[in-house]
Amino acid sequence: MSDRTPLIVGNWKMHRDHLEAIQLLQRVAYHLTEEDTDGQTVVVCPPFTALRSLQTLIASDRLPIGLGAQDCHPDAEGAHTGDVSVPMLARLDVGHVIVGHSERRLHHAEDDALVARKARAAVAAGLTPIVCVGEGEAARESGRAEEVVLAQVRGSLADVEPADPAGLVIAYEPVWAIGTGRTATPDDAQQMAAAIRGTVAERYGAATAEGVRLLYGGSVKPANIRSLMALADVDGVLVGGASLSAEDFALIIGHGRAV
Ligand code: PGA
Repeated sequence: MSDRTPLIVGNWKMHRDHLEAIQLLQRVAYHLTEEDTDGQTVVVCPPFTALRSLQTLIASDRLPIGLGAQDCHPDAEGAHTGDVSVPMLARLDVGHVIVGHSERRLHHAEDDALVARKARAAVAAGLTPIVCVGEGEAARESGRAEEVVLAQVRGSLADVEPADPAGLVIAYEPVWAIGTGRTATPDDAQQMAAAIRGTVAERYGAATAEGVRLLYGGSVKPANIRSLMALADVDGVLVGGASLSAEDFALIIGHGRAV
């Protein structure tokens, strides 16, 4: 493990209304010890409708948990029905925003150019984008996983200039591992993370690449967190399903730190 601050992110997707979200976050906090969040950053990304409630809860109870959003629009404002801008998120103390999740790439036809615009908007407003990349099953089986993922990294970072390396996070999430119970082997995850860091180094230089955090995502759970966090180039995880269980998410946070 390097001196990059580990980052554990819960992606709640389209689960939990704002009242349920309050309960879930309270339960996560209840299960955490002070040491669990010492030296690592924990972020939850609820649906937009719960951001305001969780902002209030985090502030009033001084919870050691940050707030993230699951998506954003690249423009600051405008005629974009149904969208939410980064400045609006910033006003709710949202510090991180997921961009280019595979579910958005797949179901909303988002391409690398749009993902890069979103990442640029996040950086411009002082938020940390969590840029998601990952190959589908066919690319993995045909031996093209690295080629596909590195092309996504290059395209999704076009003209993205974070003020410092800690202000950029890249999440490697193989599409075939999301919500399926199948996880990349530690060897595959490390190999891809190292290749991504190499591409980041080509783009920003070696010093910046050393500071950018790389997450793994795809069926992360308490049983596999240790082997993932032990990997040299994996600095944290993006957790979907298991982050909806307060007990499991707290275990992931605690086990991840103990590595
Ligand atoms: P999962 O989702 O942990 O349920 O596989 C991960 C993600 O989509 O970010």
